[in-house]
Amino acid sequence: MSTPTHEISQAPQPPAAIETVGVTKRFGTRTALDGVDLRVPLGSAFGFLGPNGAGKTTLIRMLLGLTPASAGSMRVLGRPVPADRAAALERVGAIVEDPRFHPHLSGRENLRIVAALRGADAAARIVPALERVGLSQRADEKVKRYSLGMRQRLGVARCLLADPQLLILDEPTNGLDPGGIQEFREMIRAMVEQEGRTVFISSHLLDEVEKICDAAAIVDRGKVITQGPIAELAGGGSRHELIIGVDDPDRAIELLGRLEQVREAHRSDEGLRVTLAGGPESAAILNAQLVSAGFAVTRLEPVRHSLEQRFLEITSRLDASSEEVPA
Ligand SMILES: Nc1ncnc2c1ncn2[C@@H]1O[C@H](COP(=O)(O)OP(=O)(O)OP(=O)(O)O)[C@@H](O)[C@H]1O
Ligand SMILES: [Mg+2]
Repeated sequence: MSTPTHEISQAPQPPAAIETVGVTKRFGTRTALDGVDLRVPLGSAFGFLGPNGAGKTTLIRMLLGLTPASAGSMRVLGRPVPADRAAALERVGAIVEDPRFHPHLSGRENLRIVAALRGADAAARIVPALERVGLSQRADEKVKRYSLGMRQRLGVARCLLADPQLLILDEPTNGLDPGGIQEFREMIRAMVEQEGRTVFISSHLLDEVEKICDAAAIVDRGKVITQGPIAELAGGGSRHELIIGVDDPDRAIELLGRLEQVREAHRSDEGLRVTLAGGPESAAILNAQLVSAGFAVTRLEPVRHSLEQRFLEITSRLDASSEEVPA
């Protein structure tokens, strides 16, 4: 008997670090998450972006098997959760709330306690983990003298003792100052790019997610509104707009209106706002046309879309209505 003559020719989906299908969570009559389909590619930094109360922590708690889903299914590193929770979480490191430590012990001693429960491999990772999070110099000070940022980093070091393939961090930069956020960002990028780990970060800060992450999902009131690579979410896909600064805007609008690359142009506070008929590459043509017609072009930049706008819409709606009062 011969075996089938051809293998599956379809390109298989690359394996995902996290995969959820139809995940729903109800607390009594409140639906905290509603049919969430999420796919977090392996080897990326993925942002789970949403305003307060969107359901970010709830999803993370379910992924970690800390609370059951009301409906739907989840896989973490390919294994079903909660059915196969122990195996799924073997190579997952997570920080859900503020990481807690023994305050009267040093950072290193805190890690030793954790490593003792995990075995020799974990103990051997203490020094590199402290190094990775930039705490080597301060590792022997008592944790009660640590700043918030240092405690966050010690939390990540503790995760690294398990050599996690996947890190799940719930609002890891909360309370950090801009310098602390930047250090944190560099640390995450290094873990993804140099060590090949996957990092899943929840956040309510668009800017942070854009800077740290390769891909993101926007969640609002329990629903995932959009997800994908940051460049695609931010680029807005279909519509490309430019802001153009010129010395004679009215005359420039006339000229631009005649170009086939321009769908529409009008004056705005920032300059001329131009919607392109095609892709962003035609910006160069517009520039050349303006310059050869004798205009002084002082500014020409793409308008950022989609991600920012959508997120602003979501957050401004929340500001406008006061219904989302904490229980
Ligand atoms: N144990 C619970 N009992 C009842 N409702 C809950 C419980 N936990 C969360 N919720 C509700 O579920 C919704 C989502 O909460 P969640 O904590 O997941 O939001 P979040 O996106 O993490 O918000 P934040 O940015 O404030 O941390 C909220 O409406 C919250 O009040
Ligand atoms: Mg939360």
